Amino acid sequence: MKSELKQSDTANFTINGKTAELPVFKATHGPDVVDVRALYKETGAFTFDPGYTSTASCESKITFIDGDEGVLLYRGYPIDQLAENSNFIEVAYLLLNGDLPNPQQRADFEHSITMHTMVHEQLKNFYSGFRRDAHPMAIMVGVVGALSAFYHDSTDINDPQQRLVATHRMIAKMPTIAAMAYKYSIGQAFVFPRNDLDYTSNFMRMCFAVQAEDYEVNPVLSDALDKIFILHMDHEQNASTSTVRLAGSSGANPFACIAAGIASLWGPAHGGANEAALNMLEEIGSVDEIPEYIKRAKDKNDPFRLMGFGHRVYKNYDPRAKVMRKACHEVLDALGVKDEPLLKVAMELERIALEDEYFVEKKLYPNIDFYSGITLRALGFPTEMFTVLFALARTVGWIAQWSEMIEDPNQKIGRPRQIYTGAPKRDYVPIDER
Ligand code: SDX
Repeated sequence: MKSELKQSDTANFTINGKTAELPVFKATHGPDVVDVRALYKETGAFTFDPGYTSTASCESKITFIDGDEGVLLYRGYPIDQLAENSNFIEVAYLLLNGDLPNPQQRADFEHSITMHTMVHEQLKNFYSGFRRDAHPMAIMVGVVGALSAFYHDSTDINDPQQRLVATHRMIAKMPTIAAMAYKYSIGQAFVFPRNDLDYTSNFMRMCFAVQAEDYEVNPVLSDALDKIFILHMDHEQNASTSTVRLAGSSGANPFACIAAGIASLWGPAHGGANEAALNMLEEIGSVDEIPEYIKRAKDKNDPFRLMGFGHRVYKNYDPRAKVMRKACHEVLDALGVKDEPLLKVAMELERIALEDEYFVEKKLYPNIDFYSGITLRALGFPTEMFTVLFALARTVGWIAQWSEMIEDPNQKIGRPRQIYTGAPKRDYVPIDER
């Protein structure tokens, strides 16, 4: 990655009588940044930003989000245009390489991914070590972390060719590993990938086919899932992507870094929200119960939050939620599920929340996780597989961001500091004097 930081201004920062003249860099879109790397040396002070609400951890050219306007761009292309006109393989190529592929580039990339969809036969042994009722995300963390024990020939992060192979292996094997986690949880035999199917159809077949009969993928449903994967592929420096970058900054191999990203995504405040949002809708159960839950969500003494609402960056409607809502209706229509009760609850909950002054004042809008659960359940996935599907899609963003970090001339091992407010220095007290 070529750094293109252009100084547009200088910020003078004075503390304890010392002044630092800090360069300001201009962004293509979005906020400019103050380069505080010299702050500690010049003034002896650190910045303080728990949760990194105002901190840019890196320079990136992959994804841009405008939270106030509800804009999401992948390499400059609006997410709704990509979701409507493109497909998983093409968008994965775009995120990895920076531009949409020409027909030959797309064919070559798709062929390479297809040729890496199978996993080492011995990897299957990892599954039998888990209880049948293990959460599939626990299996994903374990099995993906174990990949570095099988693919030693693509763990040298300093070798661009090995990084490329690891990138394609990660993207290609995630559906196979995810489908195996699902099959294991329901006690069915693993289904091998097929080279004559596209990426998403292959995944659906590995999940839902059984050896006892042929399985035809419903193109309407696989197209909807393909769209859902595009929406989930990348999202700037979110918690799990930042985890992957931080793990990668120490030189850890890409498989271990992706396993760290999966672990972070699992949290209900992050990727686990789609599972939590569906469980919440089921708990609410009917439109009549909504006011009680809205009241609980506003009650500071009640830890309950409306899962699928709110976002660290979006203070407007999550543009992915709009596409997700449309895909949800398309899938339910295609399946003839007219009166899905949870959809009724979701739409009424959305309507009430968008009118309620608490949510309006705090700019809490539905995020991508609000409608994804209903859609994924209609596609046939159990609730505990929802975050696995999120991880499957986000692997493209994680690995693209990891590659960018490795190639970034400004990157070094991530090592934040702190403000210490613990006990002042003191001498040891022997136990008989305490
Ligand atoms: C994802 O970062 C990403 O990009 C993530 C993601 C991606 O693609 O990678 O977009 C995917 O993680 C989407 C978010 C999914 N999570 C949820 O739906 C869980 C429910 N949402 C909340 O947990 C919360 O909104 C967060 C975690 C998403 C954002 O939290 P912030 O930015 O830290 O905001 P906050 O917790 O400080 O909330 C601000 C205020 C608080 O009230 P006050 O303290 O100011 O009085 O809003 C309230 C919160 O109590 N609030 C909510 C709420 N979310 C925030 N109140 C009720 N219900 C909610 N959902």
